[in-house]
Amino acid sequence: MEKKTSNTNIFASKVGAILAAAGSAVGLGNVWRFPTETGEHGGAAFILIYVLFMLLLGVPIMVTEFAIGRHGGSDVSGAFEKMSGGRKGWRWMGLIPVVSGFLVLSYYAVVAGWTLYYAYVALMNGFAGKTAEEFQTDFEAFSSDSLSPVFWTVLIIAMTCGIVALGVQRGIERGSKIMMPMLFIFIIVLVGCSLSLPNAHLGLQFLFHPDFSKVTSSVILSAMGQAFFSLSVGLGCLCTYACYFRKDVDLMKDGLSVASIDTLVALLSGLIIFPAVYSIPGLQPDAGPSLVFITLPNVFQQVFGNIPVLAYLFSLIFYLLLVMAALTSSISMLEMSAAYFHKNLRLPRPLAAVVVSLVCMLLATFCSWSFGDWKDVKIFDMNFFDLFDFLVAKLIMPIGGMLMCIFLGWVVDEKVLRAEMTNNGTLRSPLYPTYRFIIRYLAPLCIFLIFANELGLFNFFTEA
Ligand code: PHE
Repeated sequence: MEKKTSNTNIFASKVGAILAAAGSAVGLGNVWRFPTETGEHGGAAFILIYVLFMLLLGVPIMVTEFAIGRHGGSDVSGAFEKMSGGRKGWRWMGLIPVVSGFLVLSYYAVVAGWTLYYAYVALMNGFAGKTAEEFQTDFEAFSSDSLSPVFWTVLIIAMTCGIVALGVQRGIERGSKIMMPMLFIFIIVLVGCSLSLPNAHLGLQFLFHPDFSKVTSSVILSAMGQAFFSLSVGLGCLCTYACYFRKDVDLMKDGLSVASIDTLVALLSGLIIFPAVYSIPGLQPDAGPSLVFITLPNVFQQVFGNIPVLAYLFSLIFYLLLVMAALTSSISMLEMSAAYFHKNLRLPRPLAAVVVSLVCMLLATFCSWSFGDWKDVKIFDMNFFDLFDFLVAKLIMPIGGMLMCIFLGWVVDEKVLRAEMTNNGTLRSPLYPTYRFIIRYLAPLCIFLIFANELGLFNFFTEA
């Protein structure tokens, strides 16, 4: 029987730590962003590259974040200082999660707000009898409205704030322990339903038969961005959570477990969505972000139209699943910034959570308006929503990941790293040499090359 700890500022159990980290990783990134990106980038070939990036870069960077956070044990800035052997100059790295927390939550909450609204509509049986055109106009009218989506976005941030304010064990750990298993059950039920639809095999073909002629440099950068986003790595989010890990957690094993859960959920989401899309002639898998909000409710109605109870249940379960997936991730985003205000500026935890939430509510409002009134307000040719997504997934995540690898691979004393990875020599950790090679050479080099290629310094792949 596992011994529980009495310190309520760390995860009480090893399972709690895995589920919280998996809760952060599994989110709209899996159920919404993954199918969207897969659909837009041609299916199976994209998935293969994405899985490769998960294994080669994602997992090592995740473990790196775990090691830094757990070694520090208190807060991320302090963790960098401690791990570097007491050099204060490294404390600034702790600002990465603070800034990223604001950026990522502010746009993520917009889509999370949509899912909450759709769950509400599903609950009220509001999809019944609608046509494909109505789903389209409804979504466009809703997402471009100045008030309604903002209301739902603010609501989801408030819910997130409530959980974070409760603290590490009572809020984050307990929330993840309840929501993650439910999420799994929902997903399995939905996959079963989806695979029994007509033409499901076309969806499977799209997911599992690669066509490498579709691979361009932007597909590769997107696959890397998606791998990082989906695992929540590079921003210091998992570093923040790892500050609450117990000393007996096996970091390498946990990293692999979390990544496996995350990949599995992404693939299962693909198995829910693409067979459903192909079950109706004329629908396209590359419908983009609207896939989940226009295409799917339409599919639910058309496929189960004759059995209204099934259409009702299928839609409700699906959107509830999205809400839970979104919540366990948004909690980790809020925690990144709130933990800093709580630990470094000594604000009480609930106050820190409220302050960060209020700022995010404001920024999220701007992101929400990107779909309506502020559609044409552009910075670097992007609206607020796209700009935030670009900054997070394509800039801070890879650069943050690269910096952390360089830090752990080159700056930190090897003995300290080895002690952390092997829990002071009590674990065998056969993968340690491979891991160290990756973070010293492979990961920084890969990320640099992909960037350089994207910036046009040299071209491995020509654009289609
Ligand atoms: N990994 C989360 C998802 O898949 C998103 C996330 C990104 C969470 C960054 C925390 C930090 O939805």
